[in-house]
Amino acid sequence: MAMKSMGRSSQSVSRLIWSQSILVRGRDHLLSSPPMNAFLLRTPRLGFRYWTSDDLPLARSLWSDPAVTKLMASEPWSNQKVQDRLNTEINNAEIHGVQYWPIFLLTDGSFVGACGLKPYKPEERIFEMGYHLVPSAWGKGMASEAAGAVVKYAFQTLNLAAIFAGHHPDNAPSGRVLEKLGFRRIGEKRFEGTGLMHVTYQLTVEEYRTRHGGAS
Ligand SMILES: CC(C)(COP(=O)(O)OP(=O)(O)OC[C@H]1O[C@@H](n2cnc3c(N)ncnc32)[C@H](O)[C@@H]1OP(=O)(O)O)[C@@H](O)C(=O)NCCC(=O)NCCS
Repeated sequence: MAMKSMGRSSQSVSRLIWSQSILVRGRDHLLSSPPMNAFLLRTPRLGFRYWTSDDLPLARSLWSDPAVTKLMASEPWSNQKVQDRLNTEINNAEIHGVQYWPIFLLTDGSFVGACGLKPYKPEERIFEMGYHLVPSAWGKGMASEAAGAVVKYAFQTLNLAAIFAGHHPDNAPSGRVLEKLGFRRIGEKRFEGTGLMHVTYQLTVEEYRTRHGGAS
């Protein structure tokens, strides 16, 4: 798949650094506080790395919290569903080179949540963006900061054609994050997790370039 070759060398480098770090440092420490050089993406406050199969406790601290999944699912996520989601993230990295990457505060390495991409129409180079933060991180502009970095990476490094996104009709903060990044509302789509019609958005590479003064 074309996606696999895009930015592959830099991703491979990130993973190599990450796997070397695992050999050198204690595993428990890595679960909450990755080494600073392991991040594939950084913002002023946040660092992104890849999920690994050791991350189930971290994944549970996010997706087993009903406050986090309230507007994403009709019922709280079971342990099996969290494990399945972690497996999906790891598979998406293998197949497509992207994840809803786990993100951490640069100051103390504490886990903040996940933000990134998953396949939507990969054959058209359209991927879906999402952000899931732990409640203690809400209301501090972190979703906007993380999503802004993902959008830039998607268009400037991965050369995507467009990013799709959607949210529960009651999730106004999620919609605000998208609007601030220039996403255009395109309609509604039934979302399997809730069984409801979710509001949908898209941002094309052309719209992104126009917004950013022609930056490629
Ligand atoms: C949705 C979520 C990611 C937002 O994260 P966050 O870090 O609090 O978001 P930000 O602070 O970057 O931005 C939120 C924006 O929404 C605005 N907002 C907050 N509550 C709002 C409301 N009720 N109505 C309208 N806007 C609202 C904020 O003021 C802010 O906009 P501003 O920067 O213009 O002031 C976070 O609540 C979350 O992870 N929820 C659980 C998982 C989830 O629902 N993810 C989205 C799935 S589609």
